[in-house]
Amino acid sequence: MTNRIASPILQPVTLGGLQLKNRIVMAPMTRSRADDNGIQPDYAAEYYAQRAGAGLIVTEATNISAQARGYTRTPGIWNEDQITAWKRVTQAVHQREGKIFLQLWHTGRMSHPDMHDGGLPVAPSAIKPHGQIRVHEGMKDFVTPRALRTDEIPLIVEDYRRGAENAKAAGFDGVEIHSANNYLLEQFIRDSTNVRTDRYGGSLENRLRFPLEVVQAVIDVWGAERVGIRISPVTTTPGETPLDSDTMRTFGTYVAALSNLGLLYVHEIEGVTQQSREEVSDVSFAALRRAFRGAYIANNQYTLDLAEQTLAAGDADLFSIGRPFIANPDLVARLASGAPLAEAPKAYWYGGDSTGYSDWPTMS
Ligand SMILES: Cc1cc2nc3c(=O)[nH]c(=O)nc-3n(C[C@H](O)[C@H](O)[C@H](O)COP(=O)(O)O)c2cc1C
Repeated sequence: MTNRIASPILQPVTLGGLQLKNRIVMAPMTRSRADDNGIQPDYAAEYYAQRAGAGLIVTEATNISAQARGYTRTPGIWNEDQITAWKRVTQAVHQREGKIFLQLWHTGRMSHPDMHDGGLPVAPSAIKPHGQIRVHEGMKDFVTPRALRTDEIPLIVEDYRRGAENAKAAGFDGVEIHSANNYLLEQFIRDSTNVRTDRYGGSLENRLRFPLEVVQAVIDVWGAERVGIRISPVTTTPGETPLDSDTMRTFGTYVAALSNLGLLYVHEIEGVTQQSREEVSDVSFAALRRAFRGAYIANNQYTLDLAEQTLAAGDADLFSIGRPFIANPDLVARLASGAPLAEAPKAYWYGGDSTGYSDWPTMS
């Protein structure tokens, strides 16, 4: 075991006005322990507090409305009971001097009628994702979603605004807008999932209109210095979603617009989420990073070694780590001491109770 306590990754750093313990971010991870009303169980507070050794925690994706839901037992942030449950989480994390952002989510077409009393999921266009989605009764085929009417889109912007306000009421330190992994915002951005002919489709400017309206609404609530965003330009899951026909231009333009709005950070999944880090097509993560003035959080299979190399090259500021946080609540302490990491069986990732969730032991 090599002691890595002096690693620059593990030293305190500031992110905007926030003082962080280190450059490690706990990546957002859906764990599906909420009840059917989107309310987090008490033991979620313990789970997040155990992981407060991270410089910053980004919560699991959280539905901004009932319409936003795609997966069973995912939490919400649209009503008082949900706010009360999240308050327990933020208080527990703050007691351990951690910082925590809520990830704001709308799944769009990555949903199923079973989540909407038989109604269709909504999307920019009526294009069916490939494959299946997990609902109460197990796996079911995706369906063709309903294309949103133009007059419905500003209502969803308002849902994001309310979600941002509720996150503030729940005591979060900021919010991360989930614009990654082919959920609603990314469905508007990519021309493979948006074939609209109104002001929210067609040209690149039109395809970016809805995501940028959402970002502006959330900034109105929090100020840009407490708002981050997540992107995944080359991820094709879920739904085997095709890439945009000009990923570099599309995401380069998006990131530049986000930079002009003064967002705190862009959190980028480099490569295909949980899969290859190889650059796909002509997409340069470094070029996307350079298009953004704020902080850059890099993600996808980062180890301490890779983070150190990337920091030394000036290619990222913070590094988010996902899967290793599942079975290693004290991940940062383990990285510092060079201790071996535990591994969580996949069966514990989604659903169930506190087992395989908030009962992982610390090192000794
Ligand atoms: C169980 C699980 C749930 C996830 N849920 C989310 C989520 O809610 N929001 C999100 O943006 N990414 C989610 N991801 C993706 C992770 O944040 C991360 O991008 C991915 O695991 C790659 O990072 P890693 O190699 O450090 O695990 C999830 C990943 C896993 C394993």
